[in-house]
Amino acid sequence: MFDFFQSHNLLLAPMAGVSDEAFRTLCREQGADLTYTEMVSAKGLSYANEKTRHLLHLAEGEDQVAVQLFGHEPDTMAAQAAWIEDEMGDSLAYLDINMGCPARKIVSKGDGSALMKEPELAAAIVRAVRAAVAHPVTVKFRRGWAEGEESAPAFAQRMEEAGACAVAVHGRFAEQLYRGSADWGVIARVKEAVSVPVVGNGDVRCGADAVAMVERTGCDAVMIARGAEGNPWVFAQAKAALAGEMEPPLPTVEERIAMARRHARLLAQREGKNIVRMRKHAMWYMAGLPGAAAARGKINACVSVEDFDAVFDELLEYVGSSAPSGR
Ligand SMILES: Cc1cc2nc3c(=O)[nH]c(=O)nc-3n(C[C@H](O)[C@H](O)[C@H](O)COP(=O)(O)O)c2cc1C
Repeated sequence: MFDFFQSHNLLLAPMAGVSDEAFRTLCREQGADLTYTEMVSAKGLSYANEKTRHLLHLAEGEDQVAVQLFGHEPDTMAAQAAWIEDEMGDSLAYLDINMGCPARKIVSKGDGSALMKEPELAAAIVRAVRAAVAHPVTVKFRRGWAEGEESAPAFAQRMEEAGACAVAVHGRFAEQLYRGSADWGVIARVKEAVSVPVVGNGDVRCGADAVAMVERTGCDAVMIARGAEGNPWVFAQAKAALAGEMEPPLPTVEERIAMARRHARLLAQREGKNIVRMRKHAMWYMAGLPGAAAARGKINACVSVEDFDAVFDELLEYVGSSAPSGR
């Protein structure tokens, strides 16, 4: 029995281009019990691609992470899962297999959510990875492939039979991309269909959402992705709400900018001087603040910590107050 979520029920989702060491550090500090790496290409790892391997680096002080692999060849997936296990040892919490990514460049190769259309192959991947590693193996997928055709409960059963120790479900169809809203009913239906733990995912943006998701679906853990963008505090709020405690106050403008500065510094520790990856985070931290729209152009020209600091200084001067942000 995989009981990991009994002590870790609040998770930062895997997010390509976002859930790197810097962001994971900030989310863990705010209360995420576990974070996932960005999705890692099994093919890329098999070519010993340095950029791909880089995705497996842990942040300073980060004890454990879940690694998410994507690919569609059982042998390659199994070999690379074994390599990851050897490399990471105890710092690997579990291996997750991506069967939910709907991006065209991923599904066109048969990876990500394309595997929901190939349950035989999906099961073969899980069996192969399970046989290759001692760590638990989990699968993350969506409500189904085609809009309106819910296959997740049956698919979850197949994954459990193949050896998945837990499943994570995002309540949208692959064809839906991120349109509309996530259906939490499917999380409850998956929960009924399997006996392994179920992670619920989709549209959790505050503490009350996390509580509502658990109440309505019975899920064993709550996974947050976009709700944490520019908002690592969502974990402190969800943690308190799930524990039935009063949620901490929303961050002030100063706290938001201080978090953004720290984020930039953490990114620079790993990436060096060029931290263009910070641009999107900066926009997320500033979202809704007076002057944010005008700062967008400047942010898009920032490269270094100093560049970002200069824009943050200007913004703070413009805002000139520490009123609650109202996020
Ligand atoms: C920028 C971005 C990158 C993502 N990358 C991944 C990924 O690498 N692997 C994955 O399984 N899901 C990925 N997702 C999907 C999220 O993990 C999550 O399932 C989805 O965003 C729904 O949760 P949310 O409503 O909390 O955002 C990504 C989502 C976003 C917005």
